[in-house]
Amino acid sequence: MTIQRTFSILKPDATARNITGKINAKIEHAGLKIVAQKKLMLTLEQAQGFYAVHKERAFFNDLCSFMISGPVVVQVLEGENAVEKYRTLMGSTNPTNAEEGTIRKEFAESIEANTVHGSDSLENAAIEISYFFSSLEIVG
Ligand code: CMP
Repeated sequence: MTIQRTFSILKPDATARNITGKINAKIEHAGLKIVAQKKLMLTLEQAQGFYAVHKERAFFNDLCSFMISGPVVVQVLEGENAVEKYRTLMGSTNPTNAEEGTIRKEFAESIEANTVHGSDSLENAAIEISYFFSSLEIVG
């Protein structure tokens, strides 16, 4: 096992319901350390750039509109096997399929308003972290 960093977003449905603390408690309970965190309103351009890999998908425009509908919290999480650990903690993208005890099972409202995003690989984690944070903002 190696110490990794992964990128996380607490989405607008999480900030709207004031449950970011509850989600952070789950993250910390799982052994992941929040080494950077900030709350911001994404611009449409930032949302489109972040999700550019999905730009041909039918849900792309709705996804970007949702992501700018309210504040988000962007985070860097650090810990052993952090990428996989956080994906397991989040649960399936579609909350209908999410396992008991996962963030999405407990909190997600729909496949779009699914409360959290987490990087799907170590390579994408590095890309996503650098999209939002400079190295000076990450304090391990
Ligand atoms: P996320 O992990 O942020 O990555 C892309 C997002 O697109 C995903 O979570 C979902 O919230 C959203 N999305 C909306 N519709 C779909 C869909 N049909 N399949 C996959 N992702 C979807």
